Amino acid sequence: MMKARLGGLLSVLWAILLSLPLMNGVDRSKFRTCAQSAFCGRGRNAAQLGAFALDPETLKASDSRIQAVLWHTGSQIRFRFELQALMDGTFRVGLREAFPLVPRFEVPNVLLDETPEGVAWTLEEQSPEGFTASTASTGHRVKISHAPFRVAFFAGEKLRVTLNARDLLHFEATREKPVQAGEGQEAAPAQEPGMWEESFGGNTDSKPHGAQAVGLDFTFHGSEDVYGVPEHADKFNLPDTGSTDPIRLYNLDVFEYELDNPMALYAAVPMVMSQTAEITTGAFWLNAAETWVDVSRSGSGVLGSLSNLVTQGEKSVNVHFLSESGVLDAFIFMGPRPHDVSRQYGQLTGNTPLPPAFSLAYHQCRWNYNDQEDVRMVSDKFDEHDIPMDIMWLDIEHTDAKKYFTWDGRKFPNSLEMIQNLTAVGRKLVTIVDPHIKKDNNYWVHKELTDLGLYVKTKEGNDYEGWCWPGASYYPDFLNPAAREYFAQQYVYDKYQGTTKDVFTWNDMNEPSVFNGPEVTMPKDLIHHGNVEHRDLHNMYGHLYVMGTFDGHILRSEGQQRPFILTRSAFAGSQRYAAIWTGDNTAEWGHLAASVPMCLSLSIAGISFCGADVGGFFGNPDGELFVRWYQAASFQPFFRSHAHIDTKRREPWLYNESELKLIRNAIRTRYSYLPLWYTLFYENEMTSIPPMRPVWYDFPTDTDAFTVEDEFMVGTALLVHPVAKSGASHVNVHFPGREQYWYDILTHERIDHEGSMNIPVKMDHIPVYQRGGSIIPKKERIRRSSALMHDDPITLVVAVDKDNTANGTLYIDDGISYDYRAAKKSLYMQFVFDGQRLSGHQLHTPGYQTGSWLERVVFVGMEKEPKSAKLMSPTGKEEVLGTQYEARKNLLTVRKPGVNMAEDWEIVFQY
Ligand SMILES: *[C@@H]1O[C@H](CO)[C@@H](O)[C@H](O)[C@H]1NC(C)=O
Ligand SMILES: *[C@@H]1O[C@H](CO)[C@@H](O)[C@H](O)[C@H]1NC(C)=O
Ligand SMILES: *[C@@H]1O[C@H](CO)[C@@H](O)[C@H](O)[C@H]1NC(C)=O
Repeated sequence: MMKARLGGLLSVLWAILLSLPLMNGVDRSKFRTCAQSAFCGRGRNAAQLGAFALDPETLKASDSRIQAVLWHTGSQIRFRFELQALMDGTFRVGLREAFPLVPRFEVPNVLLDETPEGVAWTLEEQSPEGFTASTASTGHRVKISHAPFRVAFFAGEKLRVTLNARDLLHFEATREKPVQAGEGQEAAPAQEPGMWEESFGGNTDSKPHGAQAVGLDFTFHGSEDVYGVPEHADKFNLPDTGSTDPIRLYNLDVFEYELDNPMALYAAVPMVMSQTAEITTGAFWLNAAETWVDVSRSGSGVLGSLSNLVTQGEKSVNVHFLSESGVLDAFIFMGPRPHDVSRQYGQLTGNTPLPPAFSLAYHQCRWNYNDQEDVRMVSDKFDEHDIPMDIMWLDIEHTDAKKYFTWDGRKFPNSLEMIQNLTAVGRKLVTIVDPHIKKDNNYWVHKELTDLGLYVKTKEGNDYEGWCWPGASYYPDFLNPAAREYFAQQYVYDKYQGTTKDVFTWNDMNEPSVFNGPEVTMPKDLIHHGNVEHRDLHNMYGHLYVMGTFDGHILRSEGQQRPFILTRSAFAGSQRYAAIWTGDNTAEWGHLAASVPMCLSLSIAGISFCGADVGGFFGNPDGELFVRWYQAASFQPFFRSHAHIDTKRREPWLYNESELKLIRNAIRTRYSYLPLWYTLFYENEMTSIPPMRPVWYDFPTDTDAFTVEDEFMVGTALLVHPVAKSGASHVNVHFPGREQYWYDILTHERIDHEGSMNIPVKMDHIPVYQRGGSIIPKKERIRRSSALMHDDPITLVVAVDKDNTANGTLYIDDGISYDYRAAKKSLYMQFVFDGQRLSGHQLHTPGYQTGSWLERVVFVGMEKEPKSAKLMSPTGKEEVLGTQYEARKNLLTVRKPGVNMAEDWEIVFQY
C-alpha cells in the first residue's frame, strides 16, 4: 500500500523532473552570430571595400557564354567573370580567381549530370558604359554596366532582377600569409582580425588559406515577397534582416531550437523565390560553405545606390548571399510563374523521385521502441484500435552499443521474425543509421574504414575523433566516392544482417553532429578527400551521406526497388535521395504552427517530401495539442509521430477515448487521400511542382496570399488550415483566387468568398476545403496498411466550379518498383467534367493492369438533379447507374460505375 503510493508519488516527481530541463530552450552561446564570424562582418559591409568594374577590352561573347575580366577597384585584383544563358529562362553567373594560390572548391554532386543546354547570346548595343545582350530563343535581355559593375535581367522590356545593385559583390582572393606584421608586402585588410585564425567557444579555426569569402546581392524588382533559404524556424515570407542577424545557412544540430529566429538549423538550401502578381523569379547560390543571407526591402531604405536602375518609389527586395569560401557560382530563374521557377530549379538539381507508396502513409516512431515485443505490441494495438499504420521505426537504441548495421541481440533476437510479422499485415520497418562510427576495434565498420583511410582527417593528417552517441567516434569522409561506396555496400542483406527488402533507412545526426565540436559540429579546418577543407563543403556533408545510403538501397535490390530514406540534414539536390523532417521540435503550439512555414520553405526550395514530428519531439503534448497536430500533419507530405526518450509514451490509445477517436479519424482521413498524395508525388517527379505548396503558388496574382503562413495547399485541390491554438473557436481562413468555390470536405458546404473569413472550428476536424473545379481520387475502405489497400476501389470527388466543370488526375502503379520508368507500367488517368459528362481517359500507353475499379462518384455543388446518369464504355456498352441526390447539400452520388480504373469511360447526365 505504502509502496504503491510512494511509487505513484515518485512517478509524478519524475514526470515533473523530466518536463523541467526540456523547457529551457536553445543555448545561444553555443552558436555564432554574424558579429562573431569575421567574414560575415566584412562581407556585410563589402560595399565600403570598393567596387568592381568590368574591363571592356576583355569582353568575349561566344555562343552561350559572355566572358570578361572583372577587377576590384580597391585591390586591383582581377577575376574571371562568366555569364551563361541556358534553356528555359535560366542564367548562370560565375566569378573565379584567375590564378588562385590554392584551388578553390567547386561544389560537386549537386547539379544533375545533364543540366539545361546553353542558348546563344546576341550582343546588341555597346558603349563605354556597358552593353546589352539578348537571347532570342528565351526572350530575355541583359544589360551590363562596366563601372560600377551591374548585371540587369529583363523579360521583354521589364527589368526583373539585378545583380550587385548594392555593390555587395565580394571576393576575397587567396593570398600569401603575411610572415610578420609590418613587413609591408600586404595590404591592410590581410591583418584584419579573423583573416588567418579565428576562435569561438574554446575552439580555434586555423584558416591555413586565409580569408576566402564570396558574396553577391540579387535585387528582385517590383517585389516585396521572397521565400526560401531553408531551413529555419522562422517566417515563410522572409523577414527583413536590417536590424537582426542575417539568415544563417550552416547545418547544425541545434538542441531545442527556438521559433521566429534566423539561426541555422539542420539543412541548408541557398535558393530563393521572389513572388509578384506579375512575375515569379528566383536565384540559386551554389555554395556549400557557411552562408549568411541578408534580406532588405526598398522600403527599408538600403537601396539608395540603385539609382541608375530603379525608378524612385519602385518596390524591390534585395537578397544578399555571403559564403565563407568556394567560388561564386549562381543561377537566376526568370519564371515567369511559381511552377516555372520550380521547374527551372528542378532541371538543375533534380526532382523528388516518386517515393514508394507506403512512405506516404502513416509512420509510428519513438526513441525508442524498446524491443521486439514492444514493436509487436504497438503494431497489434494499432489493429486493435482500428488505426491504420504502415511503418514502425527504430531509433539508436536498437543497435548493439550504437554500432550501426547491428542489432542489440538481447532486445531483438529475432529481427527477421519481427519484420515478417510486420510485413504480414503490409507494414515496413525503418532503422536508424547515423554517420558517426563508434571507436571500437571489434566493429568491422570502424576497422575497415580505418584501414581504408576513409575517415575525415585533422589538419595534421590523423583520423578526426569526435564525440557522439557511441562516445568516441569517427566520421567517414563522404566527399570521397569510396566512402559512399563503402557505406552503400553495408546495406546489402548479407552485410546488414537481420534486415530484408522491407527495412528502410533513417539518416540522422548528419550535419554532422559532433557533441564536442565547435557549434556541435566539425571543425572547419578538417581535411577531406582531395585536400578539401571541411569549411568548403560543410553544408553538403549530410547530402553526400544520403547519396551513399541511396546507392546502398539501389545496390541491395539490384536497382529494382525504390529507396525510402529520411534525412535530417540536407542541401540543394537532396530531394533526389531522401525525405526530410524538421528535426527536434517541441510539444508546443508554436512548433505545430511552425511546421507549415518550415515545410513550405523546403518545398519551394525543391525538398518536397517534408514533415515535422507529430506531437513535438521534446516534451509531452496534451490531448488537444496532440489531436490538432495529427489533424495538421495528416495533410503534410511526411506524416510521422516521434518522441524523445524522456517523454511519456504517447501511442494514440494512451490518450482518452474522445482524443483517440479524433486521432484515429485524422490518420484514416490521410489513408483515404493516399491516391491523391501518390498522384501528386508522381506529378512532382514529372514537373518539379511540390505537393504541399503555398496558397499563392497556384493563385500568383492574389497578393493578399503572399503573407499567408498558417495554411497551405495540397496540390491544386485542397486548402488546409491547421488549428494551432489551444481552445480555438474560430480561425481566419484565407480563400485564395477570384471567383473560386471552396467546399468543406466534411460537410460539403460551399464557401463562395474571396480573401479572409472567420471560420468556426470544433475539435472534430480542422478546416479543409476542396477547390471547386477539382476532382480528387480517394479510397474509402480503410485497412490496416496502405499495401492492403493497393487494389481497393476508387471514389472520385468531383467539386464543380462556377461553370459547373472540374478536372483531376489519378496515378497508379505497383507502388514499390522502378517498373513505372523502365517498362512504363503505370496508369495515369485524366478526369474531366464539363457539366454534362464526366470522362476518364488514360494518358499513358495502355497495358498496366490494376485490380482497382471505380466504386462511386460524388459530385459536390450540383445545383440540379439530373434525370439519369448513364455509363458508356469504349466498347459501346451503356448502362444506367444508380444515383442519389441530396438537394439540401447539392450532393449527387453516382453508385457503382464498376469500371476498371485502367479503362476509358464516360458518365453522361440527362437533365
Ligand atoms: C510474431 O508473431 C507471432 C504471432 O503473433 C508471435 O508469436 C511472435 O512472438 C512474433 N515474433 C516476434 C519476433 O515479434
Ligand atoms: C478527454 O480529455 C479532454 C481534455 O483533455 C476532455 O475535454 C474530454 O472530455 C475527455 N474525454 C473523455 C471521453 O474523457
Ligand atoms: C482543368 O481545370 C483548370 C481550372 O480549374 C483549367 O485551367 C484547365 O485547363 C483544366 N484542364 C482540363 C484538361 O480540362
